[in-house]
Amino acid sequence: MKKITYTFLTVACFFFLTSCGKKTETDPMGNSVKEATTVQTPEELGKEIFEGKGTCATCHKADAKVIGPSLKEISKIYKDKKASIALFLKGEGEPLVDPSQYEVMKANFAITKTLSDEELDALEVYIHSLNK
Ligand code: HEC
Repeated sequence: MKKITYTFLTVACFFFLTSCGKKTETDPMGNSVKEATTVQTPEELGKEIFEGKGTCATCHKADAKVIGPSLKEISKIYKDKKASIALFLKGEGEPLVDPSQYEVMKANFAITKTLSDEELDALEVYIHSLNK
């Protein structure tokens, strides 16, 4: 009797383990579901450039003036004047926030001119996203 119980448990264990391991996620059509690839929003891309290769975060903070004006101030002025931050970063705009310090900012056009339109738009989206 003991032996039968033991065999039964071993077999039960075996099926339990294998059934678990074989389980695959499927959608209603029966196709296996692949892990969703994360899509980066423009806001996230903008933040990444701002803090990364753009080096903008050295001089600009969200709330406070450091070397450059705060991002909230920049966003507010650009919204009020319905101006484009992306165009300014291409060197095609006028300084609207602090023209007396324009020369300091102008040096960064060496970096921003290497960015794509998509990346410049992302920077603009990110700057405005902090002004909510
Ligand atoms: C070395 C410091 C420094 C760095 C780095 C820097 N900025 Fe600036 N930025 C300034 C200063 C100073 C001003 C104020 C002058 C002005 O308004 O043009 C300014 C102004 C600005 C303005 C407002 C322009 C206007 O209309 O007056 C924007 C937009 C801006 N910066 C975006 C950026 C972005 C995006 C980056 C990164 C690619 C960046 N800055 C990197 C110093 C910096």
